[in-house]
Amino acid sequence: MAARLYEHAWPSFSINDGPSYIIMIIIGFVAIAYYRALQRRKEFETIPAIGKTGILSSYIEAIRLMKGGRDMLQEGYDKFYPGPFRVPTLTGWIVFVTSPQTIEELGKASEDLLCQGEASRDALAADYTLGPTIFTNKYHVSILRGKLTRSLGGLFSIMHEEIVEAFNDELPQDNDAWRSFCVIKKAMIIVSRASNRVFVGVPLCRNPEYIKLSIQHTIYVAIVARLLELVPWPLKGAVGRIISMSTSSFALGRKHIGPLVDQRMKETQIQLLSLCIDAAKGEERSVDSLTRRILALNFASIHTTAMVFSHALLELASRTEYIEPLRNEIETAISKHGWTKEAINDMKKLDSFLREDQRLTGAVAAVGMNRKATRTIVFNDGTRVPKGALICAPLLARHLDSNVYPAAKEFNGYRFSDLPEEERCRHQCVSTSVDFLTFGHGRHACPGRFFAIMEIKTIMAYLLLNYDFKMQKPPNHVWYGLIFLTDRKAELLFRKRSQ
Ligand code: HEM
Repeated sequence: MAARLYEHAWPSFSINDGPSYIIMIIIGFVAIAYYRALQRRKEFETIPAIGKTGILSSYIEAIRLMKGGRDMLQEGYDKFYPGPFRVPTLTGWIVFVTSPQTIEELGKASEDLLCQGEASRDALAADYTLGPTIFTNKYHVSILRGKLTRSLGGLFSIMHEEIVEAFNDELPQDNDAWRSFCVIKKAMIIVSRASNRVFVGVPLCRNPEYIKLSIQHTIYVAIVARLLELVPWPLKGAVGRIISMSTSSFALGRKHIGPLVDQRMKETQIQLLSLCIDAAKGEERSVDSLTRRILALNFASIHTTAMVFSHALLELASRTEYIEPLRNEIETAISKHGWTKEAINDMKKLDSFLREDQRLTGAVAAVGMNRKATRTIVFNDGTRVPKGALICAPLLARHLDSNVYPAAKEFNGYRFSDLPEEERCRHQCVSTSVDFLTFGHGRHACPGRFFAIMEIKTIMAYLLLNYDFKMQKPPNHVWYGLIFLTDRKAELLFRKRSQ
C-alpha cells in the first residue's frame, strides 16, 4: 500500500522527459541568479558607479573593465574623489575608497571585518590552486615579517653569491660582442635562483626543472583562477576540483621539495623551508602541505620581483642619463662596505629610481589592498559597504594624483633621493603609505618587500657594474584589465664590461 501511495505522490517520468527537466533546472538557476543580482544591486545603491548599473548592462561594463580597467579607475577617482565609487566585474562589484582617511582605515581594519585572506582566496581560487589552508593558516607571513626579514643581513651573502652564479650561467662572459636577450626570461631565472637559494638552498635552487616549475606555477594559478571566474557558481566547486586534481604542478613540486622536507626535518638552518618546518603544526607539517607552502611563496615572489626588476631595467635602458650617476653611487657604496646589505642600503639614488618606476606603473596592478567585507561595514566618512563586497584602493590613480606628487605624470628618478634625509627615509622603496601602495599598506602590507627590494637592488647593482646594455626597440608593455604586464618579449643587448 505504501508503495502505491508513493507511486501516486511522485509523477513518474521516462528518459524522454530528460530535456524538459534540464530546461526547468536551467530556468530555475537563471531565476535564482536574477533574484540574487536584483538583491545585490539594491545593497550597493548608495555607492556611485562607473558606467551602467543594470543587471545586464553592468556585464557590458565588466567587459569594458577587462579591457580598459585602468582608465575606468582613473575616471572614478577624478569624478568621485574623496568619496567612494564602484565598478562591476563578471562576479560582482568592486568598491573603491579614495581618500587618505578611508585608505588608512582599509589598511588598519581587522581581518574579521575586512578580510584580506578571503579576498585573495576568491581572487586566486586558492582552494583549487594554491591549497585550501594558504589563506586560512598564514604562519608563513609571520616568518617573512619576523625571522626572515631580521636575517636579511646574514642572508645577503648567499643571495649575492647565487646572483653572481646565475649571471655567469645566463649572460655572456666575453666583452667583445653585444648579444640580445629577452629581459623577462633572464630576470625570471635569476630571481628564481636568488630567491630559492634562500627558500630551499643549493642544489634545488639550480635544478632546471624546479626553476621552470617555480616560474610556471604562477601562470597556472592565474589561468585556473580566471577560468573558474567564468564557471557559474553552482558548478565552480566540481570544476575546480577536477582542474586541481588534473594538475601536474603539485606532483612535480612534491617530487622536488618532498625529499628536502624529509632531510631538513633533521637539520636546523636559516632557510625559509626550515623556518616553515619549525613553525608548522599538525597537518601543516606534512610533506604535501609544506610543498604547497613553498610553491605558494614562489607564486608570491618570483613573477612580482622579476616583473618589477625587468620594467625598471627597460626604463633605465631608455633613460640612459641615469646610468652613470647610478654606477658611480654603486661603486662608492661597494668600495665603502663591500658586497653587503649596508652597501645596498647606501644606494639611495637607485632606491629612488626604483620607487619612481613603481609609482608610475603601480608595479603589477592599478588596484591594491583587496579586502572582502565579512559583514556590512561603515567607514568613518559614512561609506556603507554590504557584506561580501570586495573593497580596494585605486592604487595607480592615487600614485598619479598631482596634489600628492608634483608633476605626477612625469618620471623623476631622483624624486625621493633629493628629499631631506629624514623625509627620504620615509620614502624608500619599502616604505608604504596611503600615497604609495605598490606593496599595499597597513596590517597586510607585503611581508616579502624587504627581501624583494634587497634582491632587486642587488641584481641591478651587479648588472650595472658588470654589464653594458642598450635598447634596440622600445618595449610594448600592456594593461590587461587592472593588471600591468611588463613586455614579455622585450629584448636588450648586453655586453660584459671590461674590469
Ligand atoms: C616586487 C615584488 C613584490 C611586490 C610588488 C609585492 C606586492 C604585494 C602586494 C601588493 C601584496 C598585498 C598587500 C595588501 O593586500 O595590502 C603582497 C602580499 C604578500 N606578499 Fe608580496 N610582493 C612582492 C614580493 C614578495 C616576495 C619576494 C615575497 C616572499 C618572499 C612576498 C610575499 C607576500 C605574501 C606572503 C603576501 C600576503 C600577505 C598577507 O597575507 O598578509 N611578496 N605583496
